[in-house]
Amino acid sequence: MTDKWRKTWLDDLECERYGSLLYSRAIGELPEMESSKAVAARLRSVAKPGDQILDAGCGAGHYLRSLSNNLPFEFQYTGVDATPRFIELARQAFASFSDADFEIGDINALPFADASYDLVMSNNVLLHLPSIQKPLQELCRVARRYVLVRTLVGERSFRIQDVHGSGDEFDETGEPIEFHYYNIYSKPYIEYLLANIPFVKSWQIVPDQAFDETRIAEAATEQSDAPDVTTMLGGWQLNGYILQPWSFIEVEIAR
Ligand SMILES: C[S@@+](CC[C@H](N)C(=O)[O-])C[C@H]1O[C@@H](n2cnc3c(N)ncnc32)[C@H](O)[C@@H]1O
Repeated sequence: MTDKWRKTWLDDLECERYGSLLYSRAIGELPEMESSKAVAARLRSVAKPGDQILDAGCGAGHYLRSLSNNLPFEFQYTGVDATPRFIELARQAFASFSDADFEIGDINALPFADASYDLVMSNNVLLHLPSIQKPLQELCRVARRYVLVRTLVGERSFRIQDVHGSGDEFDETGEPIEFHYYNIYSKPYIEYLLANIPFVKSWQIVPDQAFDETRIAEAATEQSDAPDVTTMLGGWQLNGYILQPWSFIEVEIAR
């Protein structure tokens, strides 16, 4: 049986809707996301010519466009995602890129050897997963020097289920029939996990403040048929009723 929280990525209609939005970003038909520009700026300070970069939960590979626009040298990029349709779209979008490849894979068991990528990133993925323990271990396992994660981090942890449906949302035991996680993890919990991962030398967790509010508002109009667009409220990014404390977890690996 498909996990209730995963159906978002597997439902045909939703997959096509979200996939085509990501594809439009990947081919430059829509502007780059604020988060992909912020990620590229961070990688620029740690990347070296010829680096191998892994993007876990890459969607249609749209962050590659920001990396190409920002890194002033050649690099190799691999995108991995659990949703086959997104990998198909990514291959289509970047067919002319000889230094890019895309694979279907699960962030809980990445199909790569230990220390096989110089830089590893995973953006806007961990908040949607039922657990981040194995994914964080996996990202660090396959990294040689550096891991970058963008997710929701707060002073306290919250397990949030964005419940789908209308009127038929819960079963007789009160459990949601289908939902989408929007979890916020506490900084102490993330630090506890990182402290127990081999080869992690140091880390920093910093709020992502590198966004232009006007662009966030404009991006909401670019996906006007979406049920879950991000808007602004008092300087915070808001999705539905969920205030999003977007943060970067930057991890230095030493082998
Ligand atoms: C919100 S999207 C983020 C896409 C892109 N990184 C971005 O920031 O726009 C989450 C992505 O994670 C992928 N995903 C969900 N569960 C996954 C898993 N277990 N392993 C790998 N990818 C997963 C989804 O297919 C989707 O492409």
